[in-house]
Amino acid sequence: MRFLFLGDVVGRPGRVAVQERLPALRQRWGLDCVVINGENAAGGFGITEAICDELLAAGADAVTLGNHSWDQREALVFIERQDRLVRPANYPTGTPGRGATVIEAANGARVLVVNAMGRIFMDALDDPFAAVARELSACPLGEVADAVIVDFHAEATSEKQAMGYFLDGRASLVVGTHTHAPTADTRVLPGGTAFQSDAGMCGDYDSVLGMHKDEPVRRFLQKTPGARLEPASGEGTLSGVAVEIDDATGLAKAVWPVRLGPHLSEAVPVGWERA
Ligand SMILES: [Fe+2]
Ligand SMILES: [Fe+2]
Repeated sequence: MRFLFLGDVVGRPGRVAVQERLPALRQRWGLDCVVINGENAAGGFGITEAICDELLAAGADAVTLGNHSWDQREALVFIERQDRLVRPANYPTGTPGRGATVIEAANGARVLVVNAMGRIFMDALDDPFAAVARELSACPLGEVADAVIVDFHAEATSEKQAMGYFLDGRASLVVGTHTHAPTADTRVLPGGTAFQSDAGMCGDYDSVLGMHKDEPVRRFLQKTPGARLEPASGEGTLSGVAVEIDDATGLAKAVWPVRLGPHLSEAVPVGWERA
């Protein structure tokens, strides 16, 4: 099974990059399943129902969220009817939506998609390790699920690496999101789980985290109120992780970083490009 994860879509440049490139990539690489983090898709803050539908129409099978889940208040409502939209599993009991969902990939595989949020340098939430373990034990890899994808939305690399080892052998992929910069530690862990500390963002990298750079730079220089943060408006880059998942075990056979666009050095799944 060929799987692609794309990191935080930031504003219009991120959405346009997904819409312009993903349909062709699904064809070219023969992708069976695609998951995209959409927490910044609406003007950098949250997601609307129309934008969620756009990402799904462009080729995403599921959309994950993070600390910006509810920046667009309508998400609190439409998430209840959109079962392919997943918010962090470790929000308090009673939070709208779901922390995990099972989708059917193009090859017929049942893919469990789990989202959780870290607690280091972030809002206090329930234990993400316990929350993910609960979701996985309800739908174990190799029994109920043919593949398990975990988007761990967290600031600290240590917490993300710990989640990778915690789930090693129980998930097909553990990938970090939230920092908006791709890390160079793409690998398959000893137990067979593909891992990358952060997927990077889909957005304009000539920016600070996808936002027009003037205001963030000013905020570091002057601790005074200023303008609103607006997404940068240049061409977007796609950034994420491609995984070849073993059909028999659901574990990773290979993993590659993906970076396609104007600002970062290009990276493609070389195993698929050669085939
Ligand atoms: Fe983000
Ligand atoms: Fe975030």
